[in-house]
Amino acid sequence: MRVLLTGGAGYIGSHTALCLLEAGYDVVALDNLSNASPEALKRVEELTGKKAPLIVGDCTNEKDVTAVFEQYKIDAVIHFAGLKAVGESVAKPLDYYQNNLDATMVLCRVMPRYNCDVLVFSSSATVYGTNQEMPLREDFPTGCTNPYGWTKWISERILTDVAHADPTRSFVLLRYFNPIGAHESGRIGEDPSGIPNNLMPYICQVASGKLQQLGVFGNDYPTRDGTGERDYIHVMDLAEGHLAALKYALENKGVEIFNLGTGVPYSVLDIVHAFEKANDLTIPYRITPRRPGDIATCYADPKRATEMLHWSAKRDLNTMCRDAWNWQKQNPKGYNE
Ligand code: NAD
Ligand code: UD1
Repeated sequence: MRVLLTGGAGYIGSHTALCLLEAGYDVVALDNLSNASPEALKRVEELTGKKAPLIVGDCTNEKDVTAVFEQYKIDAVIHFAGLKAVGESVAKPLDYYQNNLDATMVLCRVMPRYNCDVLVFSSSATVYGTNQEMPLREDFPTGCTNPYGWTKWISERILTDVAHADPTRSFVLLRYFNPIGAHESGRIGEDPSGIPNNLMPYICQVASGKLQQLGVFGNDYPTRDGTGERDYIHVMDLAEGHLAALKYALENKGVEIFNLGTGVPYSVLDIVHAFEKANDLTIPYRITPRRPGDIATCYADPKRATEMLHWSAKRDLNTMCRDAWNWQKQNPKGYNE
């Protein structure tokens, strides 16, 4: 059984590649390396002792996608490829709509030509928009606040319509909450370019001395300690969620949506303190104004995934903080040593 991972050299893709190889699947990655290094998959090979071939190509280009299907018999696709920086999507909406939507549509066109019906898609909790009621369930209303979010929302719509039009298709849409951490070896992890936007990579760079101080974006939210609450999930738990989703898609037709989160909200200060405790470090921080567009609280109801995928997140916050720092410490310059 061979699985094509679009965006397979990226953060979540490389961890999922490792899980799939360890579970006995063959993998092929198609990645244009716009936000990744080939080194990630070399390290996956080193960790698993198995091949993870990388084809450098673009998912928005039908020729590139077709070439992969010509070269390999592909049984299923996990579609990670996409641009993901919220702020950048506001500044460059067309780049985001073109890249993220064309990639989804090109895959939908090419797959049936090679009798490949199974696709698992990387969606995001961002599609829940400004819902107030928590925990978030898959049947809650959706809507977005930025172009990145809309590309996920529209991709979900496209995939749902395609699956309805063709009953041979099996699509699983996964709404990730906040993935953090790294493989316990510290050999693969998140390698953001420039100054990180997201909390955990920022904390790691403060811990390493690369950045001076964490800005905590607001302490006047209606939460336990006034700072924003999120559902952080270890990237290896998330990767294992893809295995469960893939098995489900291989056994069932139609389209299904699942949250991948822990169901437990932690505040920004919870994360800072857990990181300090797990790694015996101090993280200097100061309270700054709220970041525009942020919401107070966001966490999953993970029941549907537990019941239908027989998957749930296992790793605790201490493990997430330990593994994030272990990766940062071993790879202060990411993959560009
Ligand atoms: P990432 O940037 O590390 O991985 C995405 C990969 O896709 C990169 O390797 C990039 O080079 C590649 N890529 C982008 N456009 C491409 C194209 N047109 N053709 C081929 N390759 C292309 O990001 P990630 O954190 O691993 O996220 C994977 C997916 O999950 C993305 O779709 C992202 O939007 C989604 N997601 C991520 C998060 C998160 O917090 N990391 C949360 C929710 C959803
Ligand atoms: C961000 C994206 C979201 C995406 C998700 C996962 C935005 C507005 N949203 O979500 O679309 O799906 O990443 O990749 O970018 N924080 C600080 N200081 C920092 C960084 C963050 O206090 O330097 C706070 C934020 O206000 C938030 C929490 O930490 O309360 C988590 O932030 P972040 O890691 O950026 O994730 P999200 O905002 O949840």
